[in-house]
Amino acid sequence: MMTMVQAEDYPPLLRRSGLWFEELTDISEPTLRRTFIELSARITESAPDLAADHGDELVDQFNPGDLIDVTEFGHLLVVAVRPRTPETQESDGESAVGDLYDRINDVTADAMGGFLHGGYWEGPDDPSTDEEAGIRLTDFVSDRLRLTPGDRVLDVGCGNGKATTHMARRHGVSVTGITLSPHQVRQATDLAAATGLAGSTDFQVHDMLALPFPEASFDAAYAIEAVCHAQNRTDVFAQLARVLRPGGLLTVTDLVLLRPLEGDDHRALIDATIKNFHQGPMLLRGEYEACVRAAGLEVVEFLDISEFLRPSFRVTGRNFARFRETLEELVNESELHFMVEDLARFSDISELGYAVVTARKPGAAGGRD
Ligand SMILES: C[S@@+](CC[C@H](N)C(=O)[O-])C[C@H]1O[C@@H](n2cnc3c(N)ncnc32)[C@H](O)[C@@H]1O
Repeated sequence: MMTMVQAEDYPPLLRRSGLWFEELTDISEPTLRRTFIELSARITESAPDLAADHGDELVDQFNPGDLIDVTEFGHLLVVAVRPRTPETQESDGESAVGDLYDRINDVTADAMGGFLHGGYWEGPDDPSTDEEAGIRLTDFVSDRLRLTPGDRVLDVGCGNGKATTHMARRHGVSVTGITLSPHQVRQATDLAAATGLAGSTDFQVHDMLALPFPEASFDAAYAIEAVCHAQNRTDVFAQLARVLRPGGLLTVTDLVLLRPLEGDDHRALIDATIKNFHQGPMLLRGEYEACVRAAGLEVVEFLDISEFLRPSFRVTGRNFARFRETLEELVNESELHFMVEDLARFSDISELGYAVVTARKPGAAGGRD
């Protein structure tokens, strides 16, 4: 038996089956309707023979021409991609990070209000949605950059482009987003087109540790929860120092240690994050600032916003638990355990902090000191 599906039900249906929805095109005109018209013409032509062989009733009952005007009925071309399974991935390095985000991008965005970063919550009882809190964090970052319309901005580890497009719209700036995940580049490009921001955004697959841009090509740069993937933060800050113009600002958000970890339990949780998410070590404030300076940048401000971010661990962990079935198709056992069990426990690690760090490339301030 054939069942019909509403067009808008297709994307969630595919996602629930562990496939990425890519594209849906209504091809009713060139295929279905033309076929009905041709079939109907042929049936009319051969109606006398058909009636003679099978009786008038069949000819009356089977007339595809009746379907031509039923506009609710259509023929869709649906494109979906089956993600690589955890078993087929490479074990480490940049391709492992790209693979990871290729696989978990969609479900993570569903669990984090559309972003791939946490939110800024006014307090434990803040009634905001995940999306509102995510926007607030994005705005908190861009407010540090003193952007002016027309600025060229680099979004390092841009995810699905939700923060990038929001920033381009809010400040009237041009943003280039880079990520290691081709799926994210496609999704971000589609989002920019759908929101009228294709002209002011641009998404490319590049490694933040080997930026292909000329020296001083950006007025500002930011990285939300992305530089954590560099084994050595200085390496990525040095790349950013090169592509920023003199006086240009960089703001990054990152998990940090507020004090050395106490106890094996907390250490095991942090180690699990680093392993499962291919991250570099978590650093103390002094170590972090030393990495910024070693890259030739000046530290402008180091803000500890841990208390405002902390509710995100619980909210995201709870959402991942709801999406357990989808995750089982996409991640290996260790990653699954981390996402649905461990993450929510992060709120209890009091040594764990969340910092927003702003740095400046020395030189001409461009009037924005
Ligand atoms: C947690 S997501 C954050 C995404 C986005 N900034 C947001 O806030 O929604 C981390 C992002 O960093 C990117 N990333 C990790 N390592 C990278 C690298 N070496 N070069 C470029 N992007 C990288 C990932 O592909 C992913 O898009």
